[in-house]
Amino acid sequence: MTRPGRQPARRRGVGPRRETLLATVPVAVAALIGAAGPTAADTTGAPGAGDPYFPLSGNGGYHVRHYDLTLRYETSSRHLDGKAVLTARATQDLSRFDLDLTGLQVTGVAVDGAPAAFRRVGQELVVTSRHTLRTGRDFRVAVAYNGTPKPVTDPDGSADGWIPTDDGAFVAGEPQGAMTWFPANNHPKDKASYDFTITVPQGSTAVANGVLLGQRTAHGRTTFRWRESQPMASYLATATIGNFKVERYSTDDGIQVYNAVDPREASAAAPVLKQLPSVLEWESKLFGPYPYRSAGSIVDHAPDVGYALETQTRPLYDAAPDLHTLVHENAHQWFGDSVSLTTWKDIWLNEGFAVYTEWLYDEQHDGDSAQETFDALYARPASDPLWAYPPGDPGSGKNIFGAPVYQRGAMALHELRKAVGDGDFFRIVHAWPTVHRNGHGTTAQFVRLAEQISGKRLDGLFHTWLFANGKPNSA
Ligand code: ARG
Ligand code: ZN
Repeated sequence: MTRPGRQPARRRGVGPRRETLLATVPVAVAALIGAAGPTAADTTGAPGAGDPYFPLSGNGGYHVRHYDLTLRYETSSRHLDGKAVLTARATQDLSRFDLDLTGLQVTGVAVDGAPAAFRRVGQELVVTSRHTLRTGRDFRVAVAYNGTPKPVTDPDGSADGWIPTDDGAFVAGEPQGAMTWFPANNHPKDKASYDFTITVPQGSTAVANGVLLGQRTAHGRTTFRWRESQPMASYLATATIGNFKVERYSTDDGIQVYNAVDPREASAAAPVLKQLPSVLEWESKLFGPYPYRSAGSIVDHAPDVGYALETQTRPLYDAAPDLHTLVHENAHQWFGDSVSLTTWKDIWLNEGFAVYTEWLYDEQHDGDSAQETFDALYARPASDPLWAYPPGDPGSGKNIFGAPVYQRGAMALHELRKAVGDGDFFRIVHAWPTVHRNGHGTTAQFVRLAEQISGKRLDGLFHTWLFANGKPNSA
């Protein structure tokens, strides 16, 4: 899906440019909820996390430590019943704060056990607590909600979030869709641990992230309990539901593998999924130990979706993946999942690395060398969409899944490799996920790390490959 000649994971989506429209939204919402009022300003959490591409994603004033999600889904009616309990820590005094939630109906909100006032303003669920929450203190927000979840349409025209399928739901939240199925501080800046308790019709399987703690069937329904104890960005959470064949085993490294496969995809998926342990072992040699205790795959049959997602610990595929896609989504466990973005503008740190991992996989498994893959792409004329915008500054949310981010992002890494040599290059790609494990990383930090390890000045190279417009000159 991300090789030269193939389309990257984005699709469709040539719509009117929206950034001018979007840019006015936070101001409008801030005005509506009174955040701009001088008296309320100090104790009101901001309605966004400050991301220019998705200004209302995430919120200000607190950090979520844990999400405890209890969900019940009726596949035939597409009705979702949810309760979310968030444990959060105030980063400022708060009389009022926002969560992100779109669609659905909220029936009650409580803060520290006491009913709280709330209103809905677009994707903002505005919660007013009875008492001011003090900086540095933990608090709990419980939200009861229900309804028919609907995916969001992204600026590039793709759908994400809770996407119904004929036998359940394909649940993928990059970049915005987590808020279609649970109230969240919906920006990768804020990572948290998760517990999931998901009840589905008997015969269906609900697959989330992390470890399966248990499953129980009673009165025609089965409840699955999942736990992800490592920090996770909300877009990487899943609760995918379907009639799946399940396979479980442990790797030699003690990683618990859980594969859930739609029977319609099973024969095509089997030879690829069989490679998962060796792919993870190979990636661990390059990038350091696998960041999680569990792994696996969710192979759904979701013909309308058109992409896969690196859901944490257990990537989600819309159909049987090919080997490159498996390599790509699992590379994201290091690049994107363990080391997360602080701004969507830095998306090449996810996609450029995942694509470059595919190139390295070929190179080290009797396929094309990374240089050959690079050359085939570089041969494209200056008018090719590959050069339409720079990967380090894609310009808007519309562009974050485009070829310049994926392929030119990988090309930037290849240029780095040529500049510093294989020894330092492989030290750099090992050090990056090691230093920032279970945290965050920015482009500026990556450049600095590469300069430190190589002892070379690399600002020119990165400027050319990440930030300059047009087809760059190759070294
Ligand atoms: N991160 C995914 C991948 O390349 C792609 C997600 C695309 N999401 C979307 N809404 N178009 O592996
Ligand atoms: Zn990717």
